[in-house]
Amino acid sequence: MGWTEVCSVDELENEGHKSFEVDGKKILISKVDNKIYAIDGLCSHMGGDLGKGKIENNNVICPKHHAVFSLETGHVEKNINGFFKAMTRKDAKDLHAYEIRENEGNLEINL
Ligand code: FES
Repeated sequence: MGWTEVCSVDELENEGHKSFEVDGKKILISKVDNKIYAIDGLCSHMGGDLGKGKIENNNVICPKHHAVFSLETGHVEKNINGFFKAMTRKDAKDLHAYEIRENEGNLEINL
């Protein structure tokens, strides 16, 4: 699909993160140490909204069952375990990471 506008640069504070709907997909945009990242916004385990997750060490923690994903690569850094694993019998899978760029005050991702 190519480069698609997501939001203005000003909408994101440093150390902030937010989900956006882009062409029918939820995308998580985050800014950590002044670097901006874009990955899928819904958890691959059971659809947790990563925009409501916590950011820790360049990762986002899913608010539902606490799988941990890299903001840079979208890869699972820590899968679910214990009680949640037993209940759902499912693992989280790697998410897609998108190229992101700034263009005239707006952020665009390469879908
Ligand atoms: S929905 Fe994210 S870990 Fe279960």
